Amino acid sequence: MTTPRTALITGASSGFGLLTTITLARRGWRVLATMRDLTRRSHLEDAARQAGVLDSIEIHPLDVTNRDQIAALAALIEQRPSPMHALINNAGFALPGFADDVSDTELREQFDTNFFGAAAVTRAFLPQFRSQGFGHILMISSVSGRLGFPGVGSYAAAKFALEGWTESLRYELKALGIQVVLVEPGAFETDIWTRNAKLSARLLDPASPNAGRLPRWRARIESGRKKADPQAVADAIARIVDNPRPRLRYVLGTDARVGLLLRTLLPASLFERMILKSSGLER
Ligand SMILES: NC(=O)c1ccc[n+]([C@@H]2O[C@H](COP(=O)([O-])OP(=O)(O)OC[C@H]3O[C@@H](n4cnc5c(N)ncnc54)[C@H](OP(=O)(O)O)[C@@H]3O)[C@@H](O)[C@H]2O)c1
Repeated sequence: MTTPRTALITGASSGFGLLTTITLARRGWRVLATMRDLTRRSHLEDAARQAGVLDSIEIHPLDVTNRDQIAALAALIEQRPSPMHALINNAGFALPGFADDVSDTELREQFDTNFFGAAAVTRAFLPQFRSQGFGHILMISSVSGRLGFPGVGSYAAAKFALEGWTESLRYELKALGIQVVLVEPGAFETDIWTRNAKLSARLLDPASPNAGRLPRWRARIESGRKKADPQAVADAIARIVDNPRPRLRYVLGTDARVGLLLRTLLPASLFERMILKSSGLER
């Protein structure tokens, strides 16, 4: 019997993280599924039990903004005889809010999780990847790491930062045998814009300078087309970690592909008009 490959994933309590954990376990991986709040583990455990893969999953506490927790987990995993084949930096949240409705603290919190968290977890596991001389590091970025949409500037900023950092990291690690990949989904049906979204404190404040245009913006955002099935992202991640020579970027979802294509094809002024119209912010 061959020893299973090991993957560590952050933010495994819901959405892509949960589905990827189950998908990899079904494909014979051992998954170190991490989450910041262990009281949320039952969704994952129920799904794993149903899929018959509970024995392939270990759940560990990890808040990606907690440096001590990251260091302790990296030390624990490094002591083990089995190598780590894949690290999937998935944890993240969305902070809807116009620029003048988001406080400095909120903006920093967005970066702490979506950028500094992913960077810190990656850096903590780099010694192990270096000494092995192989492994895949995946960053779950977003089409918002390539295109800025109105009302989500904080989220886009943190994902743009992640894109730049990861692109450099790819070159730094390539010659060491370590594969670094950006996964860029469009809109998929998870909890990110609903239960897990952290609305900026002033977004719903009637005194906000954006209060007048907020209802139209919300209506357009909420009336958006039905979001895609997140299992497609989990399946794509499973294919990427199986690929010995993955590309730097994987754009997932028709909306993301079409958005990026239109930006290259259309004149900039037309593309801007299209974004403004689709977000209810045209004059
Ligand atoms: N769904 C989409 O349309 C979409 C599109 C593009 C990119 N993405 C990206 O995909 C990733 C996963 O999001 P999702 O759509 O699956 O949303 P989700 O269902 O809300 O899952 C997000 C996960 O991240 C965890 N998390 C948040 N802050 C954390 C922290 N400080 N430490 C550890 N875990 C933390 C959440 O844990 P709790 O349960 O404790 O809150 C949850 O498990 C994110 O990076 C997101 O930006 C999503």
